[in-house]
Amino acid sequence: MTACRLLTRAVSLLEVRGLTRSYYGVHALRGVDLSVEAGRITGLIGPNGAGKTTLFNCISGLVPPDDGTVRFDGRVVTRWRPDRITGAGLVRTFQIARGFPLLSVLENLLLYGTQQPGEHLVHAVLRSPAARRREAALRERARSIAGRLNLTRMLDQRAAELSGGQKKLLEIGRALMAEPKLLLLDEPVAGVNPTLAREIGEHLRALVVEGISVLLIEHHMDTIAALCDPVIVMAEGRHLRQGSFAELAGDPVVQEAYMGRRR
Ligand SMILES: Nc1ncnc2c1ncn2[C@@H]1O[C@H](COP(=O)(O)OP(=O)(O)OP(=O)(O)O)[C@@H](O)[C@H]1O
Ligand SMILES: [Mg+2]
Repeated sequence: MTACRLLTRAVSLLEVRGLTRSYYGVHALRGVDLSVEAGRITGLIGPNGAGKTTLFNCISGLVPPDDGTVRFDGRVVTRWRPDRITGAGLVRTFQIARGFPLLSVLENLLLYGTQQPGEHLVHAVLRSPAARRREAALRERARSIAGRLNLTRMLDQRAAELSGGQKKLLEIGRALMAEPKLLLLDEPVAGVNPTLAREIGEHLRALVVEGISVLLIEHHMDTIAALCDPVIVMAEGRHLRQGSFAELAGDPVVQEAYMGRRR
């Protein structure tokens, strides 16, 4: 019975162990340990400067950690190049939306799709039949993703012309082009009006139903409470607590982290 349970024990989709990162003496991450399970939206909260974005930067390969390991989907991916990590299905969005403001929404989506494994420049230049088929499939995928995110009407508009909320949706759309298994979302509803924030929340729920897992950084607590279980709290570069939103909201240690320590 015990052996059986051991064999069937769920393996975490993402496991971070002992991750550290300093910037010129500022300890942004002081040995972070956390696990993210598949099939759910895990929340990641904490006061400004807690290290949440730095954690995403280290997990996604943008910034090398000083120490520690990142295991994703059964493989150690620590210090892999960002495009290789994306290709493995671990895809992040940015706190400040990236992308190309002067290109159309469709072009922005297509550009992210062309960074996929199997896409070789030589095919694109020679316009081989394989490249044309690939491009047609990418366009189809981009249109389908725009459709599900209610961006179809904006496909030919420049990204710069989108509202703040639509830019956030495009950022999620660009990540979806990379066919993620786990999406790392850095404040996807920050500055977005409440109606669109709820709509983005519904999109995230639909993604989970389709088998895409989410790790969500957000300061907007209504969104965290509505979508996330469990929620992880970071403070001062460390994993502080994990639990349901209701448990954490009543936890004095979490409250103190948000209020700031009295010295
Ligand atoms: N590139 C950098 N250079 C220098 N210091 C940095 C850099 N990136 C992050 N830091 C520092 O690391 C600490 C953690 O920052 P980080 O951006 O990860 O926090 P955060 O939890 O995402 O905050 P917020 O909720 O405000 O987005 C802060 O003290 C920050 O100033
Ligand atoms: Mg941040």
